[in-house]
Amino acid sequence: MATKKTTQLYGVLGYPAKHSLSPYMHNAAFKALKIDAKYKIFEVEPSELSKFMSSLVKSKIHGLNVTVPYKQRVCGLIDKVSAEAQLIGAVNTIKVSRGEFQGYNTDGQGFLDHLRHDLKFDPAGKNIVVIGAGGASRAVCLYLCETKPKRLAIFNRDRSKTITLFHHLNTNFSRIEFVAASSIEQLDILKADLLVNTTSVGMKEQDLSLVEEQYLHKDLLVYDLVYNVAQTKLLKLAEAKGARVSNGLGMLLYQGMASFKIWTGRSAPKEIMYEALKRAVGK
Ligand code: ATR
Repeated sequence: MATKKTTQLYGVLGYPAKHSLSPYMHNAAFKALKIDAKYKIFEVEPSELSKFMSSLVKSKIHGLNVTVPYKQRVCGLIDKVSAEAQLIGAVNTIKVSRGEFQGYNTDGQGFLDHLRHDLKFDPAGKNIVVIGAGGASRAVCLYLCETKPKRLAIFNRDRSKTITLFHHLNTNFSRIEFVAASSIEQLDILKADLLVNTTSVGMKEQDLSLVEEQYLHKDLLVYDLVYNVAQTKLLKLAEAKGARVSNGLGMLLYQGMASFKIWTGRSAPKEIMYEALKRAVGK
């Protein structure tokens, strides 16, 4: 469909980005609310990133989502970074307003909104275990800590990242028992209420579960941020043990809804965006 001169442009910036599901949900939302806007994919090579960002000022772009591998790098290329994005150290949403770039991070909010509103899980006072210590983990852990869980144990393959995240959380939050686990066993999952996989393990068909069956139990909610497959091996094992499970599609939806609100000032049409996402995953 041709784009009119008045059509506002939005999009997702990444490399690679062509498999992003975000265009489906945002274009469905623009259509439903009769907003003259289009959401595209901007797959930009690392060497072209600075040039691309400079070109935005003169373009019709009103907002961007930022994905792998640019969430950290764009922080240095925009004018204002919100408090939560600064704390997370990454930007996933940019609003372009009168030539100024404002950076936000809606990942942690998206995770927490899905957890609370749809899964009806309140992390306050709970025993929580997180696997992974990359950008997604940082966002998830910071928002979980805002709710004051009792204990938060983290394990990551690269232990130096576990330690860095552990210190960051310990500095910013009091009265939470933090554990920098050096093995899955040390996480003490058998005593946990919530287990979150923030790593990319599970995205490929042949990926195994990082957590063995013996650690899973029926009183656990297992949340896997992976959303390109309906059920990762981890979720299959957990479900077989009687645990409640969720993939990451809900987090993708809620972070998208939060971005939509930042860009347009309007409440995002949840059901329409969710239906569009579910159709897109099946493609
Ligand atoms: P994101 O923004 O999605 O979090 P990231 O910052 O690159 O992306 O983090 C990826 C996470 O997945 C990290 O915790 C990474 O572990 P390492 O820090 O040890 O690399 C984790 N990860 C990726 N592949 C993994 C694997 N095969 N086994 C275990 N962890 C893995």
